[in-house]
Amino acid sequence: MEIVHVSAECYPVAKAGGLGDVVGALPKYQCKAGHQAKVVMPMYRTKFLYANEWVVDFKGNANLGDWFFDFTIIKEKTNILGFDLYLVDINSLLDRDKIYGYEDDTERFMAFQIAVLTWLSSWEHRPNIVHCHDHQTALIPFMMRHCFNFKQLSRVSTVFTIHNAQYQGWMNWSQSILIPEWDHYKTGLLEWNGGINPLACAIKCADKVTTVSKSYMEELHSDANGLEALFEFEKGKCVGILNGIDNDVWDASTDAYLAHHFSIKDVTEGKQQNKEILCTKYGLDTQKPLFVFIGRLVGEKAAEILPESIATAIFNTNSAASFFVLGSGQTEIEWPLQQMVHEFPGIYNSYIGYNEALSHLIYAAADFLLMPSRVEPCGLNQMYAMRYGTVPIVRRTGGLKDTVVDMGDENGYGICFNHASAADLVYSISRAASVYQDKTQLKKMRTTMMQIDNSWELTVEKYSNIYHSIL
Ligand code: ADP
Ligand code: GLC
Repeated sequence: MEIVHVSAECYPVAKAGGLGDVVGALPKYQCKAGHQAKVVMPMYRTKFLYANEWVVDFKGNANLGDWFFDFTIIKEKTNILGFDLYLVDINSLLDRDKIYGYEDDTERFMAFQIAVLTWLSSWEHRPNIVHCHDHQTALIPFMMRHCFNFKQLSRVSTVFTIHNAQYQGWMNWSQSILIPEWDHYKTGLLEWNGGINPLACAIKCADKVTTVSKSYMEELHSDANGLEALFEFEKGKCVGILNGIDNDVWDASTDAYLAHHFSIKDVTEGKQQNKEILCTKYGLDTQKPLFVFIGRLVGEKAAEILPESIATAIFNTNSAASFFVLGSGQTEIEWPLQQMVHEFPGIYNSYIGYNEALSHLIYAAADFLLMPSRVEPCGLNQMYAMRYGTVPIVRRTGGLKDTVVDMGDENGYGICFNHASAADLVYSISRAASVYQDKTQLKKMRTTMMQIDNSWELTVEKYSNIYHSIL
């Protein structure tokens, strides 16, 4: 089957979070399973772009409202990622340093989607599936069906995957000029709550809608940032499929970012060696239990409860634990996390920013990973942590609920709590501190977690079934 994934991110080309990881892995495992999966994404100015060789695949032009633009599609020459990778180069619009965060993001991703459809329309054959990810690609199913320019694609099946329904890509009607002319009887499909809502539009127009865990799919019926009724109405075509993790990239016995490799057999020694590297570099005690947080410093991740929780836990444990935070996001959350470094020298440290190499070292070095998320559609951090023998401490929500079993339950290996509050997190840290004292229990939890199979191989089949159901 030929599947074209359309996405704003794809690891290792460009990644801001889990979307990048998923789009960098799913197509690779689909190809291994015999499909012909491809990825098309914007051409940003990333290291990957300059480090690899490219050929021009297509040159075209299109309109974004009144603006006539040229674009080029380049293809990576050697299949280095295990699938065909295409980048869309739109001069001055996409070729920037960052993926998101510009005032003209709506125009940027609109032009990207139009360029992709112009390119796909030029093919002599049609792909079997166009698989779009998140709101930056969410108008594609509508445009394929109802824009006159893309008539050739109107019978191609579409799948839309929601990685996070909080972000919907809202546009004003004045921006509708950016959308190529469509059949005006279909205008209602663009509309939600008085504006244009790309995410809602994709839910209405795609043949199948998936999200990245079963529990998150259920939660969306009661909590979907205004789209609850739509999820209820469209439930017949919506499915929750838990993400996998790329076991080639996330393997502590081969991880290129680690100086000390380890496996289940030598997990205790291996983790201690990595802990020594991390703690020595950041002035933390190498003998105390190490609690870490990795992620976007935003309300969704409940990152604002970290300063109070960490300070209270330091007080409660009489400074018998170390803490480290890696992340970036809202300034009002970053700031206290930076200030605390001076308040608790030798006990707490942080790296405010994005650092892929450091994240791998942290998963390998840490004893416990904190994930108090308010919203977590799937969450990959807890799965990476488990594979590296790090006990996840998670709030029972979305994908966290589906992947972590509390140590108090049968065959449990993690620590779960109910509320995104400092009180719940501090209590969970105290449970973890007692586990750390019991080396036999800790070892048992580590070995249980490390044997869990969260690989993509299992998930690829579920996507194949979805595709077959709509062909
Ligand atoms: P989300 O996509 O909501 O941010 P996920 O748990 O799905 O959350 O994925 C987050 C991914 O981004 C993981 O690969 C994690 O290691 C990585 N990550 C998050 N923040 C950072 C950071 N500051 N530096 C390096 N990697 C990070
Ligand atoms: C989103 C979600 C996260 C999920 C990731 C990959 O960013 O916030 O929970 O793991 O997408 O699907």
